[in-house]
Amino acid sequence: MIKDKVVIISGASSGIGEATAKLLASKGAKVVLGARREDKLKQLADAIAKAGGQAAYQVLDVTQQSENDAIVKLAKDTFGGVDVMFLNAGLMPNSPLSAMRTDDWHQMVDVNIKGVLNGVAAVLPTFVAQKSGHVITTSSVAGLKAYPNGAVYGGTKWFVRDFMEVLRMESAMEGTNIRTATIYPAAISTELLRAIGDKATSQAMHGIYEKYGIPPERIANVVAIAIDQPEDTTINEFTVGPANQPW
Ligand SMILES: NC(=O)c1ccc[n+]([C@@H]2O[C@H](COP(=O)([O-])OP(=O)(O)OC[C@H]3O[C@@H](n4cnc5c(N)ncnc54)[C@H](OP(=O)(O)O)[C@@H]3O)[C@@H](O)[C@H]2O)c1
Repeated sequence: MIKDKVVIISGASSGIGEATAKLLASKGAKVVLGARREDKLKQLADAIAKAGGQAAYQVLDVTQQSENDAIVKLAKDTFGGVDVMFLNAGLMPNSPLSAMRTDDWHQMVDVNIKGVLNGVAAVLPTFVAQKSGHVITTSSVAGLKAYPNGAVYGGTKWFVRDFMEVLRMESAMEGTNIRTATIYPAAISTELLRAIGDKATSQAMHGIYEKYGIPPERIANVVAIAIDQPEDTTINEFTVGPANQPW
C-alpha cells in the first residue's frame, strides 16, 4: 500500500526523484523532499499541494550526515514517522581515467556511495526499532556491467548493489522486516548529463540519450510497484530502460 506511507526522497529536485515524488503523492503518500536546490524543492512541494497531495521539504546535502539525520527528523515531526527511504541522489561526471578528473572521482564517491551510507545510517535505527521499513536506491545499469568513461561512476553503483543485498540479507536474518529495492536504470532523460565536464564524453552521452532516453516517470512507476507489494514481499532488483536501447 502506498497511501499514507511517509516516503523520504533524496535527489527530489529533478529527474527521477521529482517524478517519483509526484507519482507517490498522487497515490496518497506523504512525501519528504530533499536536495540542495531549495527553490526547486519549494516549486515541487507547492505543485504537489496544489494537486491535493502532502509534501514537506528541506535542503539536503547527502554528503553531510547531520542533514540526513535532519530530514528523518522532519519526516517524523511533520508526518509522525518514516516508512520508506528512497536514496536516489547521485551524479555522473564521467570521463576517461586518463583525463585525471580526480575531483569528479571523489565527488562521485562522496555523493553516490557516502550519500547512501549516510541515508541508511540516518534511518536504520528507526526501521530496526519499528521492525519495518523500506530502503530503495537508484543504482544504474553501470552497476551491473563496465562501461569505458564510467569506471568511477560504475564503481559507486556496484557498491550500491552489494550494500543493498547485504542489507536485505541481514534484515531477514535479524527479523527486522526491512524491505529493499535496487533499481538499475538505463538511459532516462533527466538533468544527469549536466555534471559531465569532459567534452568528448558529454557529446557521446548526449548522443546516446537523445537516441534512446525515456522519461523519468518510467522509474517512478517501478518505485511505486516496489512499495505497493504486501509487507511480507520484497521485489529486490529492477533493471529498467528503453526497449530499444541495447545497454
Ligand atoms: N538518468 C539516467 O539515465 C540514470 C541512469 C541510471 C541511474 N541513474 C541514477 O538516478 C539517480 C537520479 O538521477 P537523475 O537521472 O534523476 O538525474 P538528475 O535529474 O540530475 O537528478 C539528480 C538529483 O540528485 C541530487 N543531488 C546531487 N548531488 C546531491 C547532493 N550532494 N545532496 C543531495 N542531492 C544531490 C540533485 O539535486 P541538487 O542538485 O538540487 O542537489 C538532483 O535532484 C542518480 O543516482 C543517478 O545516478 C540515472
